[in-house]
This record gives sequence, structure tokens and C-alpha cells, in this order.
Amino acid sequence: MRSKNWEMSESNTDRLSRLRATLRQHRQDHLLAHWETLSDDQRTALLDDIEQINFRALDELIETQVRQGHPFPIPRDIQPAPFYPFEPGIDLVAKYADAVKKGIGLIRKNKVVAFTVAGGQGTRLGFDGPKGAFRISPVKNKPLFQLFAEHILGTNRRYGADLSWYIMTSPQNDAATRAFFVENDYFGLQGERVRFFQQGVMPAFARDGRILLDQRHRISFSADGHGGCLLAMRRSGALAEMAAAGVEAISYIQVDNPLVRLIDPLFIGLHALTGSQMSSKTIPKVDDLERVGNFVLGDGRTMVIEYSDLPEKLARARDDRGHRLFDAGSIAIHVLDRGFVEQLTADEGHFALPWHRASKKVAHVDDTGRRIEPREPNAIKLEAFIFDAIPYAARPLILQTSRAEEFSPVKNATGVDSEATARRDMNHRAAAWLHAAGFEVPFRNGGEPDGLFEISPLLALDAGHLREVLTTPPRLARGAANYLG
Ligand code: UTP
Repeated sequence: MRSKNWEMSESNTDRLSRLRATLRQHRQDHLLAHWETLSDDQRTALLDDIEQINFRALDELIETQVRQGHPFPIPRDIQPAPFYPFEPGIDLVAKYADAVKKGIGLIRKNKVVAFTVAGGQGTRLGFDGPKGAFRISPVKNKPLFQLFAEHILGTNRRYGADLSWYIMTSPQNDAATRAFFVENDYFGLQGERVRFFQQGVMPAFARDGRILLDQRHRISFSADGHGGCLLAMRRSGALAEMAAAGVEAISYIQVDNPLVRLIDPLFIGLHALTGSQMSSKTIPKVDDLERVGNFVLGDGRTMVIEYSDLPEKLARARDDRGHRLFDAGSIAIHVLDRGFVEQLTADEGHFALPWHRASKKVAHVDDTGRRIEPREPNAIKLEAFIFDAIPYAARPLILQTSRAEEFSPVKNATGVDSEATARRDMNHRAAAWLHAAGFEVPFRNGGEPDGLFEISPLLALDAGHLREVLTTPPRLARGAANYLG
């Protein structure tokens, strides 16, 4: 009888001879540089990693994106994209009212799911753990995931719904994310309504196109971008599960924006009423070169062009009235038709959103087995972005919202889009809702709220809702922490 070990090493030897030829053909044979020094288990792990890669599909990508670094293609004709305004004009008041009704109807019937992409590494924030576990609310220090969970619970209570929440993780943070929900008892949601699935990965490359090794027996893989969610939804079975449950719309948000309205009846309703397959929210930019994507009509199709790809002349252009011509910033809030995602990914083997190239610092092991900790970007990572699905969508819709109401992402440790700015903006919004509801809010001379204010999503989901539910004036203490829950 052969021993188990013997069998394993023999099958590894077989796999090795098959893969060696492939690696040589695709100029990636350095991945086996340390083979002789690896244990059997390590050899198995390395072969498993190698087998995950479709080398044939990568060849062209490596040539154009990694070695040559082709700029991202932009359309020839670029025009501003039309959008529905934040404040509806007289012509749109009835349509918005119908949309809210339609959205509430879909929510009530659980035809909508909440979806959060949370597979990123959050390197700029430098927080040790999944970003959703980052504490952000001004009074109670609630983590991002708790705010979203309470938004769903609040929505369920308000409309008598029982919504599911899908969360995309990555191999790097899947276990920690699930554990965080278990430790916190799903923040009051039913565990079976919170569905996790993992996104795909992409290897990191040296500038010459060679795939990097993270360890002598492990390939350096990282998450393949938030655009990876489309295929991951299909491959994980999440899409099939949604279809079986009769879900029509997927309400997409990113994990780092504590102000986002995870489930917005107006947005969902407009999406459905207009027959859009993929809808997006926009806000006016703060300056011409703000680092957000721009909604445009590119050769007649709605799309997002990244700030780094929009020619500066266009970014600075003005219309006849002196307004910024390209003023529609993308804030990564979307509604996608479940059927649209199915249609896009039907031919799994051939579907791919375009890849965006980023130059990054990637620690790795070189051919001699030395660990390299680069000080400067040394590697290329390729990521897919969700907004690149918009040009494929029929009747794509864009709805304007307000920055103060809905956008303050936590991206950086300090400065712009940081913990400090997000806490400040949450505080401002809570004070503004209370003020709009007609309550006496202590403000300082410069208009800053005097104190800390936080409104639980379990109490109210927006300013109008707060007015409905707060029938007696709350006691708001100047210079103190005020929590309404
Ligand atoms: P970012 O583009 O801000 O990337 O992600 P990041 O990885 O979180 O942060 P940095 O760039 O390393 O500092 C925007 C959203 O997309 C998700 C993130 O979790 C966040 O919600 N994302 C990003 C994924 O789900 N997968 C990815 O591969 C990348």
C-alpha cells in the first residue's frame, strides 16, 4: 500500500510537470524558483495558488496593462451626463412622489436587498481589522457595520419589511468580518438575513509582468476590486439565492461612508419606474479637480471617467452661465437590477469589466528567497470598478443628492475624507435634521453645532422621518453629547 504522503507527493509531481510547461510558456516559471526547498504541504499550497490563475487570459493583460501601462481608454466625445436633481422642479414633483411610493412598495415586498462591498484592504486608513468594524459615530462610537445594520432594522420597522443584507468580503478579511458580526450578535438583525460571500483575487505583478510571490510557496494575491462583485455574486450563489427569493433590485453601497442611505425609497423607486438597469447617485463636486469620478456621456453612453483620466481642460470647463460643466461626481451608491447582473455575467468565462492599473508597494520574496520590503511603489495591481458596468446598462439613471446628507467617506487616517471629517459631518447632519424638525439646536456663532449630536437609524432614517417620530421636543444640551435612539 502506498502511504498517504507518498500519494500526495506523487500527485504534486504530476501537477508540477503539467504546470511547469504552462508556466514556462507564459514566462512565469520563476514561481517555482523555491520548489526544492518547500515541504510537501507548501508545494500543495503553491500548486493550488498556481492553478487558480488563468494564464492564457492574463497574457494580453500583462502585456498591455502591466508592461506597457496603456492609459485607460477614454471616449472621443465627452459631454456632461444628465441627471435627476436633488430638489425636484415643478415638472418632477409628481414623478418623485410616485417613485417614493414605488420604492416603498418594493421594500415592503422584500424585492430589494442591501449590498455592501467590504473586501478592500483599507490601506490608507491603516486600521487593523475589516473597515466595517471601524468606530465612527460621534456619540456612541458605533462601528460602520452597526450603522448599516440599524439602517436596515429601522427600514424593516418603518415599512414592515424583512430585508436581506449581502456583504462582499475578500479572502483577507472574510473570517474577521464574519467573526465581528457573530461577536456583536448581528447588531440585532437575524443571522440568516446577513449573507456573506467572497470576492475574487488577482495576482500582483512586477513591472516586467512577472507575478510576485508573497512567500516562497504563496502567490501574492489581492482582491480584484469592487467591480469583482458582479462575478463573485454569481459564483458564490448569491445571485441564484436572490432570484429564488424574488429579489429585483440590489442596493449597492461601499463600506466606508457612514452617511449613506443604504435603502432609499426615492432612489429605488425612480430606478424601477424608469426601467433603469443600473442607477447611480451623484453630488456636485467641491472643486474642478476633486478626486471623485465624473459622470459623463462618452460617445453617447453614460459612464464614469475617473478624476485622473478626465482631461484637465474638461475638468475646468464652464457652461454659458459660468457653472462647472462636469460637476456630477460619483459617490459609489448604486441600484442594480438583479436581472442585469445575471445578464452581464451569464457567460462567466468571457465576462470581465475593464481593468484599472495601480502602482503600489508590494512586499514579496525574490528569486533568491530574500524578503523585499519596498519603500517606493514596485508593483502593479489590477482592479475592476463597479461603475464600469454602467455603459452596459439600459436606461442608466443618475440621481443627484446632497453631500451633507449622504457622503463623507472614511478613506484616510487624517486630513480629507478621514475619521475626523466623517465624525464632523455625521454631527452636522444630526444637528441639521433636528433643526429642520423645528427643535431648538444649540449652535455656535459660526453656525457649528455646539455639542455632539447623534440620531440612531433605529429612531429615524431622514429629516422628515425624525419630524414624524419626535412628537415632543428633545432636551438638547449645549456643549454636551446628545444621543437620540
Ligand atoms: P477603496 O477604493 O477605498 O479601497 O474601496 P480600499 O481597499 O477600501 O482602501 P485603500 O485604497 O486600500 O486605502 C472602496 C470600497 O470598495 C470596497 C472597499 O471595501 C470599499 O467599500 N472594495 C475595494 C472591495 O470590496 N473590494 C476590492 O477589491 C476593493
